[in-house]
Amino acid sequence: MSLSSRRRFLRLAGLSAGTLVTGPALARAGRAPASPLQDPSEPDLEIQLEAVVERAQLRAGAPTEIWRYRATVLAGDPAAVVDLPGPFPGPLIRVRRGDAVRVHFVNRLPERTTVHWHGLNVPEDADGHPRFAVDPGAGYTYAFTVRNAPGPYWFHPHPDMRTGLHTYMGQAGLLWVADEAPTGLVDLPLVVQDRTLAADNRLVYRLDMMGMLGDEIWVNGRPDAVLDVSPAPHRLRVLNGSNSRIYKLAWQSGAPLAVLGTDGGALDAPSRRPYAMLAPGQRLDILADFGDPGLGRGPGLESLPFRGATMMDPGATPLPMGSRFPVAAFRVAGDAPRIFLPALANGAPDGDGRAARALVRRRSLPSSARRLRAAQDRAPDRTFNLGMLMGGWTINGRTFELEGVAADEVVRLGADEVWAFANQGAGMGGMGRMAMAHAMHLHLVQFRVVGRDPDPRFAADYATVREGLVDDGWLDTVLVMPFEQVRIRATFGDFAGLYLYHCHMLEHEDMGMMRNFRVVP
Ligand code: C2O
Ligand code: CU
Ligand code: CU
Repeated sequence: MSLSSRRRFLRLAGLSAGTLVTGPALARAGRAPASPLQDPSEPDLEIQLEAVVERAQLRAGAPTEIWRYRATVLAGDPAAVVDLPGPFPGPLIRVRRGDAVRVHFVNRLPERTTVHWHGLNVPEDADGHPRFAVDPGAGYTYAFTVRNAPGPYWFHPHPDMRTGLHTYMGQAGLLWVADEAPTGLVDLPLVVQDRTLAADNRLVYRLDMMGMLGDEIWVNGRPDAVLDVSPAPHRLRVLNGSNSRIYKLAWQSGAPLAVLGTDGGALDAPSRRPYAMLAPGQRLDILADFGDPGLGRGPGLESLPFRGATMMDPGATPLPMGSRFPVAAFRVAGDAPRIFLPALANGAPDGDGRAARALVRRRSLPSSARRLRAAQDRAPDRTFNLGMLMGGWTINGRTFELEGVAADEVVRLGADEVWAFANQGAGMGGMGRMAMAHAMHLHLVQFRVVGRDPDPRFAADYATVREGLVDDGWLDTVLVMPFEQVRIRATFGDFAGLYLYHCHMLEHEDMGMMRNFRVVP
């Protein structure tokens, strides 16, 4: 074992009980684990990350001004930073659980910004809270140890009232926690976003209360994406990096989707679905065996129609929320590069897809899921009403305050809590009560959904999304449909401090639907 992997094991061993550490690794490490909280003097990975203004040739004609991240490795594995082929998003930063990471951020934008590590469980001063905004020309160092399960997490800006614009302009990257053992699958990241380009090729952004919806669907920074794949089992790691658009992902051929993972890592058992809902900020791992003729020739992913997520027809876009459109096409060729990003291969794919099929057949209900069932009838420890007031979005009637924490937003360190999000909307005079779907996101924790209470009055609309709610995994963001109440369960076990919870429809967030919670020791 090299010195650096030895250090990593020691740090892993210090993580909270129940994390994955294999016996032999610990035995070899052979001494008491270091505290995970101490800032190691020598990080495993040190990166310079800049937010820059660039001009990109996105289509014929004038170049487009974009704001994007650029990263370089200062110390550690030089292959840890991978640039995706499009102009944005990017880059992809690959880490392993237990890595001590230090990111030296430099803001070269004309505005203050921060970098948030979405889904990661990090100390409050590394979380990118808007109160730590970085001035133009200034820098900030984010230092954290990777404590999360393998999976695709991501990073994006989080400045007060400007998160929507900053993200829309192109700032988003993947923080890839690599698998700890080979999976036999080829990993293919798909960052799905919607954008509108003006006739002069400028990116068009509107701070629309209903949410910014773009005219075109872009995958990995390109419209009309066609991805070259080999006839082998792949794992599509899909991130909804859109500001406000919800997707209902399905194979164009009508074949069922096999979901292998959600925001916080792999599912206990794969979940077969006719389609899967993907709210802004969420990730889904989908098995795609491109050697299986059942997927169809030239298989493609699309978004299917659904109803009820929005209360007004935005009209301003040719792709309204819930309309049907293609998302990505795949070109299967025997001689296609077998691996999209060579650095991401988890060992050689096994060609005939045996490993992948075995994975999908695995059916047992593990004990963690059984334990959760027991929590389903527990009354919520706190309830947050999602509403609307005077041109803004609210949580329990309040909008965001930079440092403000209400009495019902204080959580004890170590508490295991059930939170209810009740989507109540607002009275609209003669039009009755109206509401929109929200994508509720908590910083600091991954949670489980323990119950949903949809409103029976809207059962017909709800039926268009119900089977796609992948609630059997770890989530950091959950879709809450109009007049639905969703209960989640989380343990606030790792860090004390001030953290955010908010709607991840970024215009809702910027227009008030965000609050702090404080974890107190
Ligand atoms: Cu990805 Cu506070 O957000
Ligand atoms: Cu987050
Ligand atoms: Cu919302």
